[in-house]
Amino acid sequence: MIRRVEATGEPLVVTRHGTALATIVPAEGAGPQKALPATPHIIALASLKGGVGKTTLAMHLAAAIAQEQERVVVLDADEEVSALRWQQHAQAERVALPFEVMAADRNTLMRQARRLAQEGCTVVIDTPPNNREILKSAATVADVVLVPVLPTGLDVDRLATTLELLTDLEAALPSFNYAIVLNRFDARKGMAHEANQALNAHPRLETVVKSLSAYEKVFGRAPVELGQFREIWAEIRAALEDEQ
Ligand SMILES: Nc1ncnc2c1ncn2[C@@H]1O[C@H](COP(=O)(O)OP(=O)(O)OP(=O)(O)O)[C@@H](O)[C@H]1O
Ligand SMILES: [Mg+2]
Repeated sequence: MIRRVEATGEPLVVTRHGTALATIVPAEGAGPQKALPATPHIIALASLKGGVGKTTLAMHLAAAIAQEQERVVVLDADEEVSALRWQQHAQAERVALPFEVMAADRNTLMRQARRLAQEGCTVVIDTPPNNREILKSAATVADVVLVPVLPTGLDVDRLATTLELLTDLEAALPSFNYAIVLNRFDARKGMAHEANQALNAHPRLETVVKSLSAYEKVFGRAPVELGQFREIWAEIRAALEDEQ
């Protein structure tokens, strides 16, 4: 409770059986801080490698979060604007997405994400491949960074460059969190299991995202295959709660 008071800067009345027992007030000079929330406000999907599922996962995670949070925004920081084009296609077909996609201003990405979070949005940032600066900005402002990886030897090997960058950030930022998420997992393939094992050496989500044709066909429509993404959301929240 004291942490909550410190984090929000707001007094908190402690009650028992409906009777007020005490009021915890913030210490002199304490104000709202960048506390690490149990409910993350900003999640970034990031990898220097292209085609690993950043956009697909961003859109599905946003849809899963939208089932329990009022306002969810996907902030598209990729100049290829795949997430924005997804929304445009949906609008053209008169399909409602359960979240909004906004173009990120690449020069002010961190401020933009923070402002949306302060307004009460849960923000999912979709980032481009091969762009260290955007990756750094998105990762710095995020409560948690998810790094999708495909279960191939090549992809696991290429992960190293992204992880180097993230471990540098981890060294510099006290409340930095990242986790690998295995995407396009196909249990029938031996390599998928090998990749799964290899990733255990890193911070990772237990939930793996299966390879499904539903994910290939959903562009321009509202994501419906959300079970694994509800699990991912629950896993992220539980991990952050444990840390508090
Ligand atoms: N779990 C999955 N099952 C099946 N297909 C998938 C899955 N995840 C992603 N895909 C497909 O893989 C391709 C690449 O996905 P996506 O565009 O999301 O990757 P990306 O990392 O955002 O790519 P880029 O780096 O170019 O932005 C797309 O055709 C997408 O439909
Ligand atoms: Mg993309």
